[in-house]
Amino acid sequence: MVTFFVFCFFSKIMTERLLIKALSGGKNTKIITLNGKKITKMPSALGKLPGLKTLALQNNLIPKVCPELCNLTQLTTLNLGNNLLEEVPEEMKYLVSLKNLHLAGNRICRFAPGACDGLQNLILLNLNNNHLTQLPQEVNRLKSLTHMSINFNQLASIPRELCFLKNLSELQLNYNELKCIPEEIKFLKKLQKLLLARNNIGVLPKELCDLKKLRILDIAGNIIRIFPSGFQDLKLREFYCEGNPLFLQWPEIAKQQENVWSLQEITSRFVINHPAENNPFLMDAMEWYPEIRRIISQRKTCAVCGQYFITTWLECVQFVPPPKAWKISKNLQLVPVRALVCSYKCFTQRDPNLFGIARV
Ligand SMILES: *[C@@H]1O[C@H](CO)[C@@H](O)[C@H](O)[C@H]1NC(C)=O
Ligand SMILES: *[C@@H]1O[C@H](CO)[C@@H](O)[C@H](O)[C@H]1NC(C)=O
Ligand SMILES: [Zn+2]
Repeated sequence: MVTFFVFCFFSKIMTERLLIKALSGGKNTKIITLNGKKITKMPSALGKLPGLKTLALQNNLIPKVCPELCNLTQLTTLNLGNNLLEEVPEEMKYLVSLKNLHLAGNRICRFAPGACDGLQNLILLNLNNNHLTQLPQEVNRLKSLTHMSINFNQLASIPRELCFLKNLSELQLNYNELKCIPEEIKFLKKLQKLLLARNNIGVLPKELCDLKKLRILDIAGNIIRIFPSGFQDLKLREFYCEGNPLFLQWPEIAKQQENVWSLQEITSRFVINHPAENNPFLMDAMEWYPEIRRIISQRKTCAVCGQYFITTWLECVQFVPPPKAWKISKNLQLVPVRALVCSYKCFTQRDPNLFGIARV
């Protein structure tokens, strides 16, 4: 016990000394590095360094930030990795110049309310190895963010608001507990790298295929059996998918029955397969009933005849060779891609490469 106190005392003096040295540079001090010094409390003298640009305090024992942090309005890089923080602190909101925030390896399980409010210049956020189970909707305040890394947490979902970070180019969410990806992912138009390895994702939204800039996709270690139609058109450079229960053998051809469509399906098919401009009834209805617009926006296209349909289909799988430009992790010769067929009639006329999937 005594040695422990002596040690703490000693380490405190060391820290103060280093800080005093920094302070002798006065308002001109730009960088402070106090890594691995067993610091348990952030030195409050930091408040006297309003011109500070970089503060590195990783590998210490800091459980919370000091209030004086709010004075560091010119700080561009803050590294508090490997400490004992339990939240993304509210004080962050005053760091209006911050570009890089490293909070990996703490015990963070929440964002304090308002923490994101002032971080409009943040470009990189690293929250790897924490205890987050969800992200607040306020992440949409991080307007400049291009790199977000939240590997090794317990995220069960991604808020759709995250998909409104227009400049995001890299999103790392390996080793979480994600079950699905919001269809709003399509709004991340600059996304180039999406890492989703080791989650519980069963279905990828077809909107993923809208990501024209996507080059690296890792979905290894999920529970995906089949990819959305159009997946093979992604311009990927690297694609990792080992450890998924993919259809790697021809599934048994389903014993289909004659179709019995609902009246709604029959009407909808008739309406949507006739060009709207020749159809005053439809034009009127679209204007007055947003519900119709919604139904129509969710229409699907038959892989055989190309006609639209709404709710009833036969699910098929098509095996396509991965595009030559894709670098793939293992000897994946064919990618199973989902295809929908509008009717039993079309099913009997399908390409021999299309297999029905038995519903269980
Ligand atoms: C922080 O800034 C406030 C004014 O913004 C000032 O009153 C205060 O003294 C500063 N804190 C320190 C520790 O210098
Ligand atoms: C997004 O990126 C563009 C191009 O790099 C840049 O001009 C723009 O300011 C960025 N937007 C935000 C909100 O940072
Ligand atoms: Zn058809």
